Amino acid sequence: MDAKVHELLNQQINKEFYSAYLYLDFSNYFEQAGLDGFANWYKIQAQEERDHAMLFYQYLQNESQAVALEAIAKPDKVFTCHMDVLKAGLEHEQYVTALINDIYGAAYDVRDFRTMQFLDWFVKEQGEEETNATDMITKMELFGSDPKSLYMLNQELAARVYTAPSLTL
Ligand code: FEO
Repeated sequence: MDAKVHELLNQQINKEFYSAYLYLDFSNYFEQAGLDGFANWYKIQAQEERDHAMLFYQYLQNESQAVALEAIAKPDKVFTCHMDVLKAGLEHEQYVTALINDIYGAAYDVRDFRTMQFLDWFVKEQGEEETNATDMITKMELFGSDPKSLYMLNQELAARVYTAPSLTL
């Protein structure tokens, strides 16, 4: 495997685990705010991010490439309102999309078609994650200021259940 592609794929393991950490922090914020449905939604999001990390990990191992695990950074954002959290979520997903695109670009440059095919799932996934993050912001804008509506939205998010990723390696 090309050294740059390898390095970026390895770094992505760490980025995805950081994403899981970040969403656990979001979940913790909402738990403390008494919004257990939002807390549930982000806890499941954290689980999905761990799955993403493991897919990169497994892909490198399947390709007989070394894996180097690095320290996971501490989530250090301080939120002053619910909307701050949701906006940080969208911003983070846009950042992850850029990372996936960078890996794809590096793989494309060296005609690493197998890595590109592996990444195709993540390209689609990032589209869904950005849509989800945007939907959360829209719903909060519409309903967040009314306690009864916020309660209903919290109930809706409480219904989210974990499903394993559709990509298996
Ligand atoms: Fe692993 Fe939320 O992207």
